[in-house]
Amino acid sequence: MIDIGVSDRVFVLTGAGVSAESGLPTFRGAGGLWRGYRVEDVASPVAWARDPLMVWQFYSMRRKAHRGKQPNPAHLALAKLEKALGERLFLCTQNVDKLHEQAGSRRVVHMHGRLFQSRCDRCDRPPFDDENCYEDHVPRCDCGGQIRPHICWFGEMPYELERIARELERCTVFMAVGTSGVVYPAAAFVAQARASGKQRVRTYYVGPEEPANRALFNECFLGKAGESLPRLFHWSQLSAISV
Ligand code: APR
Repeated sequence: MIDIGVSDRVFVLTGAGVSAESGLPTFRGAGGLWRGYRVEDVASPVAWARDPLMVWQFYSMRRKAHRGKQPNPAHLALAKLEKALGERLFLCTQNVDKLHEQAGSRRVVHMHGRLFQSRCDRCDRPPFDDENCYEDHVPRCDCGGQIRPHICWFGEMPYELERIARELERCTVFMAVGTSGVVYPAAAFVAQARASGKQRVRTYYVGPEEPANRALFNECFLGKAGESLPRLFHWSQLSAISV
């Protein structure tokens, strides 16, 4: 169990594993997306420059795959945690899906972008909601640029890193859920939280196997997120300290 007190600030980092039980594939495991596609063909600025239609076909496939998917008990538990802790919970996801939002989480930071947003690759027009699938053409912006998925590709800078760094600095509990711990900078967040120095930070991992950065976690709860996460918190205690 994870004890959360009135003065705790909780940073949660989620990865593809949190959505696995909802039927969305992870990237690196058996059946993972990177087993069927080459990153450099579909998720990099080079791929976009070389074959934008192939890139859109990949993200259109993922938009379609998301249809009808529902949040699982892990997403619901994190939404419930937000209700109890308010702004003392910071939920940062590497996932581009919208299952955290569907579960009721209101303040999710999507450091790798959002599957259902697009943006222009040329002008400053902000990212916009876009549910469309583009399988036979690449959409164009009014400025003449090409519309691309609002996704942080390999070789690009993740979003909101300054805000994330501030939260890592002040959290007292750090929890990673369903992430292999091999993709940076997210894989270094646990080290950043521990380095903040103000006080001892408790660090936890939840997932069926140990992540690559296991050594940095005080405790590893081995199991599927949907099964273990809802049982990790003292909900009655949390409702007593709820905001
Ligand atoms: N519950 C919790 N964790 C699970 C579950 C489950 N039911 N099923 C699988 N996992 C775990 C796996 O054990 C693995 O450690 O989820 C992790 C998934 O790892 P990856 O596929 O590497 O996904 P992730 O860590 O989110 O990848 C990070 O890499 O390709 C990029 O941008 C992409 O955001 C992604 C980033």
